[in-house]
Amino acid sequence: MSNIAEIKVGEQTYQLPLIEGSEGEKAIDIRKLRAVSGLVALDEGFANTGGCSSSITFIDGEKGILHHRGYPIEQVCDHASFLEVCYLLLFDKLPTQQELSEFKSEVSDNVLVPEEIKNFYKAFPRDAHPMALLSSVVCSLSSYYQHEDSNAPDHFRKTAVRLIAKLPTLAAWAYKTSIGEPLVYPDSNLGYTENFLKMMFSVPNKTYQTNTDMAKALDKLFMLHADHEQNCSATTVRVVGSSEANLYASVAAGICALWGPLHGGANQKVLEMLTGIKESGGTIAECLEMAKDKGNSFRLMGFGHRVYKNFDPRARVIKADCEKLLAGSDDPLLKIAKNLCDSALQDQYFIDRKLYPNVDFYSGLIYRAIGIPTDMFTVMFAIGRLPGWISQWKEMMDNPERRIARPRQIYTGATPRDFPPISQRG
Ligand code: ACO
Repeated sequence: MSNIAEIKVGEQTYQLPLIEGSEGEKAIDIRKLRAVSGLVALDEGFANTGGCSSSITFIDGEKGILHHRGYPIEQVCDHASFLEVCYLLLFDKLPTQQELSEFKSEVSDNVLVPEEIKNFYKAFPRDAHPMALLSSVVCSLSSYYQHEDSNAPDHFRKTAVRLIAKLPTLAAWAYKTSIGEPLVYPDSNLGYTENFLKMMFSVPNKTYQTNTDMAKALDKLFMLHADHEQNCSATTVRVVGSSEANLYASVAAGICALWGPLHGGANQKVLEMLTGIKESGGTIAECLEMAKDKGNSFRLMGFGHRVYKNFDPRARVIKADCEKLLAGSDDPLLKIAKNLCDSALQDQYFIDRKLYPNVDFYSGLIYRAIGIPTDMFTVMFAIGRLPGWISQWKEMMDNPERRIARPRQIYTGATPRDFPPISQRG
């Protein structure tokens, strides 16, 4: 097959290079399109546009495949821990025992946050959404390290470790603030996830007992969320970083992008949807009819994906875990979730559009079993996704061909006209 694509516009033919990725996926390289033809490509939502070449994560949406640095997600989840996955994504290698121990120590040495940051929490209303708090405090971290260049060789690792270490502390404090309990300081003697659970759930007047099963389940959820190539939040991190904004600011922007209900915010919406069905006494059939009604903005939350046109492999892993963790539980929401999922998978509307459950459909049920409140679900996603954002940012910064993200547009507004004085405006 030729490595040239031809675009014919009227009588004119333009030749553009074809490029091929390591898994055989192909793209037309349109970087010179405007220069040779005066044309730009228009692609709302970037559904057919590759924003970069990347060696971090591979997805085959048709086959339902997800690999991190070549390793299938199922094997990663069976054999690794979240911090091991962080290392793999950040440094493009699986750590040796010694490298992993050193990395874990670096992380646990950095879990404290600057004491003044506590004041931020006091400034927010009690019922502030924790994602609002999280994005703000993460951005504020940049001011505590403002004399460092997050991409300088001697600063990048420090910055990445700092973010990974401090995000659970900042997240747990957002929760404690929202329920009016004292903030719990991190405990460097505990593992990453155990420490987070302790900061979330311990109170000064009671002895706290670590629940290892819950910590393991949460660690796996973090792993499952660790990266997902050029999704909305990772793209946001890259776009913000492309202006050479620092890593803290870029990650804070990623947190904001994740918050939306069409992206990470879907996990919260799934639980709200299931609770709504339970409380209203509505039926699954009514819910599906609403999702299919084009006159209704309601969508079946936790279903559908821009890239997966098959079962989301993360949903497959999580579904099995969810059933195991909740085996014997009489959680009515789990029953509703199962029935809703089975019915949707047999419904022609969902079959025709290749709409399958995504990771968010099940994650909320596990968070709920762990005791995590619904409005903290997207915060959990942010903790999991952080190594992906950092790795995507670093890959972009290290690319010698990097340019500021600055898309074109097709202008559809008024053509030139004279500016009328205010007295003559109707
Ligand atoms: N419920 C009902 N219909 C749906 C759903 C849904 N959840 N998702 C897609 N559709 C329909 C659309 O209405 C459209 O129908 P049409 O062809 O008749 O017009 C068709 O399926 C294609 O959908 P698009 O909106 O074009 O798909 P897109 O790739 O733009 O959107 C998205 C993907 C945002 C994930 C969408 O499926 C959705 O809104 N899902 C619900 C929210 C959700 O679960 N988000 C989490 C995504 S995973 C993540 O971020 C971790």
